Amino acid sequence: MNDPRPPREEAALRGGVGEPVRHDSAHLHVSGEAAYTDDVLEARGTLHAAFGLSQRAHARIKSMNLAPVRAAPGVVAVLVAADIPGENNVGPILHDDPILAAAEVQFVGQPIFLVVAESVGAARRAARLGVVEYEDLPAVLTIEDALAKQSFVIPSVTLQRGGWQAALAAAPHRLKGGLRIGGQEQFYLEGQVAYAVPGEDGDVLVYSSTQHPGEVQLQVAHALGVEAHRVAVECRRMGGGFGGKETQASHPACATALAARATGRPVKLRYDRDDDITITGKRHDYLVEYDVGFDGAGRIAGIDLMFASRCGFSADLSGPVNDRTVMHADNTYYLPAVRIVSHRCKTNTQSNTAFRGFGGPQGMLAIEYVLDEIARALDCDPLAVRRANFYGPGRDVTPYDMRVEDFVADRLFDELAASSDYATRRAAIRKWNAASPIVKRGIAMTPVKFGISFTATFYNQAAALVHVYTDGSVLLNHGGTEMGQGLFTKVAQVVAHEFGVDLDHVRVSASDTARIPNASATAASSGSDLNGKAAQAAAAAIKARLVAFAAERFQVAPEAIRFAANRVEIGDVKWLKFGELVRLAYLARVQLWASGFYKTPKIHYDPKTLKGRPFYYFSYGAAVSEVAIDTLTGETRLLRADILHDAGRSLNPAIDLGQVEGGFIQGMGWLTTEELWWNESGRLMTHAPSTYKIPVASDVPVDFRVKLWERGENVEDSIHRSKAVGEPPLMLAISVFQAIKDAVASVSGYEGTAQLNAPATPEEVLRAVTAATKRSTAPV
Ligand code: MTE
Ligand code: HPA
Ligand code: MOS
Repeated sequence: MNDPRPPREEAALRGGVGEPVRHDSAHLHVSGEAAYTDDVLEARGTLHAAFGLSQRAHARIKSMNLAPVRAAPGVVAVLVAADIPGENNVGPILHDDPILAAAEVQFVGQPIFLVVAESVGAARRAARLGVVEYEDLPAVLTIEDALAKQSFVIPSVTLQRGGWQAALAAAPHRLKGGLRIGGQEQFYLEGQVAYAVPGEDGDVLVYSSTQHPGEVQLQVAHALGVEAHRVAVECRRMGGGFGGKETQASHPACATALAARATGRPVKLRYDRDDDITITGKRHDYLVEYDVGFDGAGRIAGIDLMFASRCGFSADLSGPVNDRTVMHADNTYYLPAVRIVSHRCKTNTQSNTAFRGFGGPQGMLAIEYVLDEIARALDCDPLAVRRANFYGPGRDVTPYDMRVEDFVADRLFDELAASSDYATRRAAIRKWNAASPIVKRGIAMTPVKFGISFTATFYNQAAALVHVYTDGSVLLNHGGTEMGQGLFTKVAQVVAHEFGVDLDHVRVSASDTARIPNASATAASSGSDLNGKAAQAAAAAIKARLVAFAAERFQVAPEAIRFAANRVEIGDVKWLKFGELVRLAYLARVQLWASGFYKTPKIHYDPKTLKGRPFYYFSYGAAVSEVAIDTLTGETRLLRADILHDAGRSLNPAIDLGQVEGGFIQGMGWLTTEELWWNESGRLMTHAPSTYKIPVASDVPVDFRVKLWERGENVEDSIHRSKAVGEPPLMLAISVFQAIKDAVASVSGYEGTAQLNAPATPEEVLRAVTAATKRSTAPV
């Protein structure tokens, strides 16, 4: 116990807060050993399920003949809506989303019946044998049609401030226009999957690939008509969620639990990729209209914005998603007089849901588009127009009445403009374009400001349960879920730091509703903020007991006890290994586990007026993208991207950098190649990678310079002053879209505007180039 102390350099801690340690499952990911829901060892007698899907966009079900399904080889049971003992619903807010459609179908792909069979193949083959007679009803398939018919899933919302009409009328310049913004399929690599194992006396354990085990637990309980304590939901990890498993994991989970109840056997349901894309909701696509008034420097005096989004057939999370669009339509810009109208359109298509950014990207793309158009109308550098509109002293209140107290986008802009050589390159590109008739280049720099917190204030809470075993090892349970973003690693680092032990002494348990009840979804980028604080509180409680015990045992002041580098220093003379102190404390009957709880302070928000302080703070970033477009084919390529992102004092710079890179590339996919296309019957035709193109490794720019902002620090008391990083970087990809727009503008010699819709697919770029060419050659 009184060993001489090792020299200082040996006393370093491995994997503490701020260290760029690898993802705790990295070795399992790359070796294929990481266990996903489909890898849970199947219990004896396991059955497999498949949904029978609606073939009509909107119809009354006249009759259903499922005899051929029941007669198919290997089929054990077939369930319809009437077989559900509890509530037939998976709608998270409104109860408008049936597990199995009963009298009416509302989109092509809606589940109508559930087949349970001895094998996956038998279930899927049998599911195609149902004979359903439909009586077609009028279907609403587009945003325009929904607007015309006033077809909404929830009422429209208007946010306004100041005399926007007068400001528009009095402004020296005015522009009106619109754009379309496409949706996006989450395309998690692991599809939706659940595995329900029945227990005794009506209990059920559901392994679910979900961002929100607590909600899945409640939905399963409601469907079965039992109390929540009979249902346990577990998720070790997801192979990606990206928002697509925030609510829509409930559907397969309820289906398997119902089938397990009906058959008394374990049941698994894994959507195949085509079914997954056909059944589940995506990022909302939008129609945007604007009317903006501005001065000669491009500074906005007043703006009127209209957003209409495709919500699909049910409300799902469309309310909060569209609210976030409204609350990000300012991005980094002060809008002195403003009206923002938001319509939540009901269409006979998949129920759109959360996707990284949660409506924020669409709001931000709209204002970035408007600023670009202003710059082109005034023939000045879009960068200067962006700067002129930045929040600043006396211009620091958002349209929803929150004061921006942590603005750093201007500093990020200055640093990135210099380090990326923006001005020189912009001039060089213009010169280059003048001499290049076919291939044109474009460049753009855009900022990101993203509000951190769930807009629904009550979701901003988290709990953790930390166990210290008598050998000094630590088991960390918290309510968050791991989907590849590195949450488990970051929260474990917080706990390791608190105890002063190496990271490998801290093991994170699977997410489990029996260990942590009522946990919020891991979403809104707030996983490490919320769970990090809760876990820190739990560890601190145990540490306080250990300190009190050691102070008494060794007769020193509590202040003289220090936890560092796997040992506990007792004053200046004595030290113990962490495990030794734990063992002594156990023998002295000290409680070695504790729970921790956290709720985000300062936030409040009125969902009716959209006013308040919905966000604890903002995360910021900036990106410069340079692209080339081929004016004959419409193809585009990102040549170089420079990114400076503010993750505050990063908990783990390696993981955070990965989030920035991945988010940016995913955003680029949204805005360039990923296109959802429904045919005239409302069938989504782009339901496989053959027709839906996500970015691949070769789309990463050859010259990719990504940095975390070294001076970043959260002004609020977040976990170790870090900042949430999961979603914000996706919106850095708006710079790619604006760079393509810049390249298109070169076709008309940078005269006037350059109308371009998202995604900027080759077809869309070609359309825009053709329009620009006609304009530049038209007689004046
Ligand atoms: N990163 C990976 N690898 N996989 C994912 O599914 N989801 C994103 C982001 N980064 C996701 C990801 C989304 S939509 C959110 S809200 C956050 O991670 C959630 O995790 P966090 O709150 O722990 O950042
Ligand atoms: N972000 C992400 N998910 C959510 C939110 C949010 O603001 N609100 C409810 N679910
Ligand atoms: Mo992320 S869209 O908040 O799951």
